Amino acid sequence: MNQTPLSNAAESSPVQAAPSNRFLGAWVVGALVAASGYATLRYVVLGPVAWQQLPLYVANKSFALAGLVLLVAAQCYRAPAVRRRLGCWGAALVTAHLAASVVLLQPGYFPGWFTPQGQFTPAAGLALLSGVLAAVALAALWLVSLLGREGSGSSGGSLLLGGGSLVLGLSALHLVSMGASGWLTPSRWHGSLPPITLLGFLLVLGALLWRGLPARLRRRG
Ligand code: HEM
Repeated sequence: MNQTPLSNAAESSPVQAAPSNRFLGAWVVGALVAASGYATLRYVVLGPVAWQQLPLYVANKSFALAGLVLLVAAQCYRAPAVRRRLGCWGAALVTAHLAASVVLLQPGYFPGWFTPQGQFTPAAGLALLSGVLAAVALAALWLVSLLGREGSGSSGGSLLLGGGSLVLGLSALHLVSMGASGWLTPSRWHGSLPPITLLGFLLVLGALLWRGLPARLRRRG
């Protein structure tokens, strides 16, 4: 019985308890600090990326990983208000990732993603298509969550309820198509640390398996 006080409160009361700012802050700041620390260590301290690339190129990796962590964390709570707030923060960080990626998408940053004619390779195209579709699905969930809340007059809607598996599945495709080629060569990992694409994929896989478990088994967990 590892239920959180938040999930218990939300289940026992028709009025959903909103998560405290301290709780949300701990998740958001914790995810950002952990993701930025890992990205800086792997790609800059132990890898080939220059410190000058910290503000956008490395920060983009942190936004992507922290956003994904929050989207997955949102799945782990049962209280809809907690799921919605964590999901919104995850969506905000993914939006920052999307905006930064659009600016960064040039051969100088992603040399292997472009043909000699300056067009995307098929793998890069698939990685970007699945990322864009995941972002669109996330935006649709966000809208549904907002409209549902206003329409019903209750605060019971949850950002990722229902369509979350689609967002996670497309994110998994996004990560496999851009990173899989490097996952099986640990000898080439910077500082022997696994790539963020692999960490993100394992996180998503775990969340999808968790969602696939029957509800009564999840409650026991
Ligand atoms: C729900 C939507 C999305 C999620 C959860 C997501 C998540 C991620 C994650 C975890 C990474 C790995 C970061 C790394 O290895 O550095 C990544 C990489 C990347 N994503 Fe996304 N992404 C999403 C949407 C998008 C969209 C819409 C775009 C395009 C505009 C995009 C472009 C990229 C690029 C260019 C990279 C490579 C970054 C790098 O290697 O520095 N992503 N994404």
